[in-house]
Amino acid sequence: MSKDESVLQWLEEIWKWGFCFIKGVPVDPESTKTLIERIAFIRHTHYGGFWDFTADLTFKDTAYTNEFLGGHTDNTYFTDPARLQLFHLLSHTDGHGGASLLVDGYSAARTLRQTEPDLYQALTHYRHPWHASGNEDVCIQPSAQAPVLSVHPDMNTVYQIRWNNYDRAPKSDWELPHQKLWYEAAARYNEILNDHSRQIWTQLEPGTALIFDNWRMLHGRSEFTGKRRMCGGYVNNDDFVSRFRLLKYGREKVLNNLGNMYDAHSSSNPNSIY
Ligand SMILES: [Fe+2]
Repeated sequence: MSKDESVLQWLEEIWKWGFCFIKGVPVDPESTKTLIERIAFIRHTHYGGFWDFTADLTFKDTAYTNEFLGGHTDNTYFTDPARLQLFHLLSHTDGHGGASLLVDGYSAARTLRQTEPDLYQALTHYRHPWHASGNEDVCIQPSAQAPVLSVHPDMNTVYQIRWNNYDRAPKSDWELPHQKLWYEAAARYNEILNDHSRQIWTQLEPGTALIFDNWRMLHGRSEFTGKRRMCGGYVNNDDFVSRFRLLKYGREKVLNNLGNMYDAHSSSNPNSIY
């Protein structure tokens, strides 16, 4: 907590693996909030800023239930989905279950690209309407429709995944053959994601926080009984990347590289983080 080098190490792990566990977090919401804020300010949404909740359906969203949740990304309905999400289980009493699931969506997309390029193309090409409208006073939709797999315009690689059946609105501006192709592609991508060898299941414990890249990793959980208290929050992409670049390369090098092309292959280029 006290050293910037440790924060850098933390961000390096998130960037490399798509997720990271932090052990030894004091089991209280205040410390968890302070931990997130070592990266950047917490992103506020219609669910609030820093959240601390039990499964009580306060918000009409599947996250606030105790049902099984398959692998998904959050915020598919925002123009700019949050990049990081941190979870800290504060307590789980009178029950069991609630294991956490992580799947690397980038890796699954690469497999689809290699094995069935037409299906990969369909998921990168067809843009969908997305929405969040479970609560009476909210109906959020992104400014532009967006595909499931967003390909970076300079890097020719997937850099942002939107994958949540509950948030995908009906698409009306496409013909039947396109629909058939897209649904075939979605079914195949879903199969790859559900390959057990790709799924990382862990049981969260009080004192260990999990943070992950919401543009890359799909997350889910098994159903549970009893009462769980969970806290956490989101961090924006731009603020995370800014912090990471500055810590890794120093301000001078970052400023001297403004406007340079992104380059994921050269670790000496601050724009290899994007
Ligand atoms: Fe979620």
